[in-house]
Amino acid sequence: MTAIRSVVLGCGSYLPRQILTNAELAARVDTSDEWIVQRTGIRQRHIAAEGEFTSHLAMNAARAALAHARVDAQSIDLIVLATSTPDNTFPATAVAVQEALGINRGAAFDLQAVCSGFIFALATADNFLRAGAYKRALVIGAETFSRILDWKDRGTCVLFGDGAGAVVLEAEVQPGKSSDRGILTTHLRSDGRHKSKLYVDGGPSSTQTVGYLRMEGREVFKHAVGMITDVIVDAFNATGLTAEDIDWFIPHQANKRIIDASAHKLHIAPQKVVLTVDLHGNTSAASIPLALAVAVKDGRVKKGDLVLLEAMGGGFTWGSALLRW
Ligand code: UT7
Repeated sequence: MTAIRSVVLGCGSYLPRQILTNAELAARVDTSDEWIVQRTGIRQRHIAAEGEFTSHLAMNAARAALAHARVDAQSIDLIVLATSTPDNTFPATAVAVQEALGINRGAAFDLQAVCSGFIFALATADNFLRAGAYKRALVIGAETFSRILDWKDRGTCVLFGDGAGAVVLEAEVQPGKSSDRGILTTHLRSDGRHKSKLYVDGGPSSTQTVGYLRMEGREVFKHAVGMITDVIVDAFNATGLTAEDIDWFIPHQANKRIIDASAHKLHIAPQKVVLTVDLHGNTSAASIPLALAVAVKDGRVKKGDLVLLEAMGGGFTWGSALLRW
């Protein structure tokens, strides 16, 4: 029996030009390069320039993905943009990207699941494509977290950065087997009981301000590995595939210790793990497509490879996606 699969036609990413190193941060708050590297694996992050918005980052990543996929922007009929740092409260940042790309058909909307945003957006687009509602989708993760950081709080300001990544998906008929190309399965979870462990202390309805990111880091850490591995086991159970079958593990890039512990628990070999957190810190919804674009560009991810994606973040939200490149 055949199945419609969302096949990845291409991917792209964008990082703002300005780099902020750990040493530069140590001059601002009571921290050190040694502490940040040891506890997180982060060495630097990129910061959007004045006047450079989430939509600009998203647009650059989208253009790179379209070029890599060798498809025209006009062929896109769905844009799902994951962000927690939109240009404005409304309209959606996705419509700014849609306009910039000269697209005026189909639908474009934002989706908010914080650091899990890209997985949630990928799953959303995949469901629309498999249902036959749209044919070609742009899925984007784009953030300017530098704008919601409390630069006096060393517990959070050293962790996050700005960036964007995107993929182009196309609905294609495949044989309906686990050897198919495209997205094989997605699994999404959330549990609002944890909502005060990672949040922004402002918003249009509550304070009429944007607010700043607040996090109980140790609490997030405590739950992360268990949640991540659970939802990956869901992906294995749904497909009959195992950790042995995985060619590349491309996790949300928040903390190298969380990534290492998750891979270890799942028995995924360290050489299969794509790690870019050192280069851009935690870019929330942008981190998976940023890492993916690096591994595709340097030739690690090749056609037919089995790629495992996962993320966990504010809400809490968490999710996994298993796809064949
Ligand atoms: O994207 C998903 C959401 N985010 C995450 O996944 C983040 C999850 N959490 C983490 O990655 C880690 O909990 C952190 C990196 C945030 C912190 O690492 P930790 O090993 O959990 O450290 P901690 O919070 O237990 O703090 C250890 C010590 C504390 O000092 P005392 O109380 O032991 O004297 C902190 O005050 O480190 C101190 N500390 C710092 N020291 C230097 C906290 N931040 C810093 C800092 N520089 N930037």
